[in-house]
Amino acid sequence: MVKIRSSEITPEHVYLSRRQFMAGIGAVAGSLLVTACAAPAAQPVQTGQATTPAAPGAPAPLAAPGDGEPSASKDTDELGDKLTPFQSVTTYNNFYEFSTDKQAVAGLAKNFRTTPWTVTVGGLVNKPKTFDVEDLLKRYVQQERIYRLRCVEAWSMVIPWLGFPLAALLQEVEPTSQAKYVRFETLLDHKQMPGQQAGWYQWPYAEGLRLDEAMHDLAILSAGLYGKLLLPQNGAPLRLVVPWKYGFKSIKSIVKIELVAEQPTSLWMAAAPDEYGFYANVNPDVSHPRWSQASERRIGELNRRKTLPFNGYADEVAGLYTGMDLRKYY
Ligand code: MTE
Repeated sequence: MVKIRSSEITPEHVYLSRRQFMAGIGAVAGSLLVTACAAPAAQPVQTGQATTPAAPGAPAPLAAPGDGEPSASKDTDELGDKLTPFQSVTTYNNFYEFSTDKQAVAGLAKNFRTTPWTVTVGGLVNKPKTFDVEDLLKRYVQQERIYRLRCVEAWSMVIPWLGFPLAALLQEVEPTSQAKYVRFETLLDHKQMPGQQAGWYQWPYAEGLRLDEAMHDLAILSAGLYGKLLLPQNGAPLRLVVPWKYGFKSIKSIVKIELVAEQPTSLWMAAAPDEYGFYANVNPDVSHPRWSQASERRIGELNRRKTLPFNGYADEVAGLYTGMDLRKYY
């Protein structure tokens, strides 16, 4: 197993002030069932500095999708793996609300309306609140996080996300002592999202995390990548990114976050309970019932590469699962 020291990950977290961001990209800030995700044959971690809200009233530091060149602070991740080109990240997508054809998603999602957009955070919390996404981007410093994304379908990418720790938002609403899990929901809108007319999934797309997973500093809410606001196909205006889990956990276009007492059922658990578990930690030793997870195809590479436990983030997250049988809790 490749060892990664947390100090090698931390430098990836570039804390971008608006000035740095503007200088870096020279752009004006914007106003801003078949396969895997395939139809079925058919103790909170303190996030420290990362949670610091940005100065009230500071403008959102991301360039509008059309403005400026894609940019990132580095061209590799902490393992030395090259970033996946912007073109691939934005044209090879899983977003079943639009299509099951990865290359058709970007075109079908082109006119998806992502402003105005609110995210309601409630359930077992002391301070439920509905946030305007633009306010969230002003409130929290947007950090660059270069993460590997490993899809359960056994392909992967390396993506320079921009976002802020999910923990920051959760701490703000103050989960009560009964809250044990976090449930996320995507927008439900058949008109804009033609894929939601497909009756074999239980829409809206839903996902969940255990509260301590959600509070881990590696789990972020992302509003951008490559220095630009997210395009619709990548989950605009706000999506989850949980890099040690299969990509389907990283739910897109979130409208609702709920703190709950019981383990939530995700869309994939409901569609194919034997194939998709709640935890979905990247694990080369546990095969999907229909294919091996021991290796993966990095988009843009010819040869397959070995899949790393927890997608290479074991040093950071394995402790969340001490004593759990990861074959049972897949
Ligand atoms: N979120 C929603 N709402 N709908 C989806 O179909 N697909 C998931 C995840 N989030 C999906 C989703 C899957 S299977 C993967 S691999 C990632 O998004 C892909 O993210 P990307 O297209 O930005 O690479």
